[in-house]
Amino acid sequence: MCESVETALPDVRVPKPDKPEGFSRSWQELFPRPAPIVCDLGAGNGRFAAAYAELHPEWNVLAVERKWSRVRKIERAAEIRRLPNLRTLWFPWDDLLLFWSRASSCREIHVLFPDPWPKRRHRIRRTLTARVLAALYRALEPGGCFRLLTDDSDYYGAVERMVAALPGFDRTEHPVEFPWSHFETIFRSKGDPLYGAIWQKGNRETKEKRRGSP
Ligand SMILES: C[S@@+](CC[C@H](N)C(=O)[O-])C[C@H]1O[C@@H](n2cnc3c(N)ncnc32)[C@H](O)[C@@H]1O
Repeated sequence: MCESVETALPDVRVPKPDKPEGFSRSWQELFPRPAPIVCDLGAGNGRFAAAYAELHPEWNVLAVERKWSRVRKIERAAEIRRLPNLRTLWFPWDDLLLFWSRASSCREIHVLFPDPWPKRRHRIRRTLTARVLAALYRALEPGGCFRLLTDDSDYYGAVERMVAALPGFDRTEHPVEFPWSHFETIFRSKGDPLYGAIWQKGNRETKEKRRGSP
């Protein structure tokens, strides 16, 4: 991991939150079998997470949500749709990344319509801060991707600037369409403008090879 990302992390909040329920050591242990992990952070009713788990039975999808009623909804969907590769954590996802994540443990992280806190005085409550982004970067595997989608242009711009300050992230395209989340469906049906991007964690080896090539 690059140095600036490392140094952004040790500023740890006190007290450290309890472990998420059902969590012992690694995210992988939440699933019946090991597979690349995809996270849906602030998963809401789980529409995206369930569709993605259905589309990719070869992956493990971890939906993280802090509202219990929504967690139950996602768990019910996993049961009804028989998705053993979809698991839910009832936990604040920023704390999960900051305190209960392992480096290079996750293939994709999706943050879809995080609470925007549009009023200037409330922006401090936004979940995606520089520290959380540094932890998110750390949790991604080399080559792994972070996808953000929001209807709030100011929030998007702020994240874009923070990501640009992390030297290991490159903007990338995804050749395939993702299933829509609940909020995405609502905003798209109204024709509202959406702001989003996918950033890829640089593969240091590939970069070094590229740099060394004639
Ligand atoms: C605007 S909704 C978007 C839900 C879903 N991603 C979608 O696109 O339909 C934001 C969701 O994030 C959850 N949330 C907000 N802050 C959170 C946090 N720190 N940890 C976990 N969930 C959070 C809220 O409870 C809510 O369900």
